Amino acid sequence: MVGIVGLGSYVPEHIVTNADMEKILDTSDGWIRSRSGIVERRFAASEQASSDLAAIAATRALEDAAMSPLDLDLIIVGTNSPDMLYPSTACLLQSRIGATNAAAFDLQSGCPGWIYATTTGVQYIQSGMYRNVLVVGAEVITRMMDPTDRGTYVLFGDGAGAAVLSSVEHGGMKAFELFADGSLAQYLTLPAGGSRRPFSRDVLRERSYYTKMDGQAVFRFSVREISRISKKVLEKAGVPLEEVDWFIPHQANLRIIQSGAQELGIPMDKTVVTIDKYGNSSAASIPVALDKIYREGKLKRGDKVLMVSFGAGMTSGAILMEWSR
Ligand code: UT7
Repeated sequence: MVGIVGLGSYVPEHIVTNADMEKILDTSDGWIRSRSGIVERRFAASEQASSDLAAIAATRALEDAAMSPLDLDLIIVGTNSPDMLYPSTACLLQSRIGATNAAAFDLQSGCPGWIYATTTGVQYIQSGMYRNVLVVGAEVITRMMDPTDRGTYVLFGDGAGAAVLSSVEHGGMKAFELFADGSLAQYLTLPAGGSRRPFSRDVLRERSYYTKMDGQAVFRFSVREISRISKKVLEKAGVPLEEVDWFIPHQANLRIIQSGAQELGIPMDKTVVTIDKYGNSSAASIPVALDKIYREGKLKRGDKVLMVSFGAGMTSGAILMEWSR
């Protein structure tokens, strides 16, 4: 079996409170808390990009695994806010941490980026091609948000989480489920800066270099996907819901988490929540939350962890893992 042998995460030091948001937008602490569950979020420093956050999380994960960067065969970075369109953030990370034996690529699949990256990384190990794969979710996603759009700007935060995947003797990854429906792409887009709408005066005027989101449509998709894809992955793993010890949903909105958990039938005391402190850090949210309960000493060997995410694409993904350490 393949499992996680090292974990690490990093959130920037700078805390942005709802009171800070009130100063720049027509919003209120009451609205943000009641509609999203967010109390504060982290913003990267102006000189930090996604690869910088990734490098800190990756170094922590390698330390936790007691491995050298030279032991890595492959690096996959799930991100929606790469340092630049190319080269990949994974290549920048590879150079930064000195993982000179590793191949490297980015994987872009919306907020489930780390779930997709982990699923992919495991396949390389199971096929026998590689032994040690670093999978990272890293975002400075706040730079993709329009500071004048209260419907998006208040929701997001920056962060990075990293895991070293390798063979394990106990537990490990039990089942994966990935899903995409590109016909719903218009729900959540960053329209400009790619080959369809390269930067231009019009793009600047329309502010289409920032994220556009149909919040309610994303909300409905997310609640439905949490329970649908979770049930599928549990069935594949042959694990009944009652045996799940930890439920780690993507941290997009506390109401989505609560409704999703309720529809699935999993109690909130098994559900990991970080949205109040970190906001929505997109592909980083699940590895950051996993690392949090790990560092708090809550994860025990044999614990069954259900991780589920949803986001731009639209995509969703779920992993059922048995903690092996
Ligand atoms: O990782 C995946 C990415 N995104 C998501 O998962 C987001 C999913 N969607 C959501 O979380 C919620 O839909 C939101 C938090 C974005 C919005 O909550 P909502 O309950 O769906 O509110 P709404 O969009 O229906 O807006 C209600 C009202 C509107 O005013 P009117 O038209 O009723 O007068 C909005 O203009 O709230 C207004 N509004 C705000 N008011 C104060 C929207 N944003 C804000 C704000 N502060 N920040």
